[in-house]
Amino acid sequence: MKLFLDTADRELIKKWVPTGLVDGITTNPTHLSKQGPNSKQVLLDICSMVEGDVSIEVVEKKPEAVAAQAREIANLAQNVVVKIPFSPEYLPVIKQLSQENIKINVTLVFNTLQALMVAKLGVAYISPFAGRLDDIGADGIATIADIVAIKEIYDLKSEILAASIRSVQHWHQSALAGADVATLPPTVFEQAMHHPLTEKGIALFDRDWQKLGKEKLLG
Ligand code: G3P
Repeated sequence: MKLFLDTADRELIKKWVPTGLVDGITTNPTHLSKQGPNSKQVLLDICSMVEGDVSIEVVEKKPEAVAAQAREIANLAQNVVVKIPFSPEYLPVIKQLSQENIKINVTLVFNTLQALMVAKLGVAYISPFAGRLDDIGADGIATIADIVAIKEIYDLKSEILAASIRSVQHWHQSALAGADVATLPPTVFEQAMHHPLTEKGIALFDRDWQKLGKEKLLG
């Protein structure tokens, strides 16, 4: 499973990249809105901080403007992926950009058939939003599992990027569902690293070692 951080916070990216576990970054207009007015510099910095794919979302609305902005975003750095929300009016744009070998991440996907449609257009990533489906009483993880199943039935190449991950349990479930990628809020990423029994076990080992009174393990 690829692990992306779902943030535009450069300090948090700087903190977690050394773990070797950060395979990429997803940003969106909400994340960027928290980082101040110099969005281009923020995005260029982020692209330089990771080797993997960095998703940058268009903010234009009209299809022709979305297409132009997508090409502009794609030229920012070699590891950029252009994020475009699913919309019927954007399907011709997504098709054209994919044919131009621009890597697309179709976001705000909420059902299996939206995913099937854009997979047929050859996009690099498809982002179903688990948390926001749960918010309306639907089953976000089940939707992701169904999308993965359809991908496998038809040998589709697009990577399923589990998004809107709200908890460690969501991450766990999206992994079991077979999502290719999970994009994780840094809080969820860190929470999964801790378990009370791990910390208790370290304390017990240290206590018992200290009883021996030796400074060096191999001395
Ligand atoms: O990657 C999409 C994510 O940022 C949306 O998360 O919690 O706003 O639904 P959320």
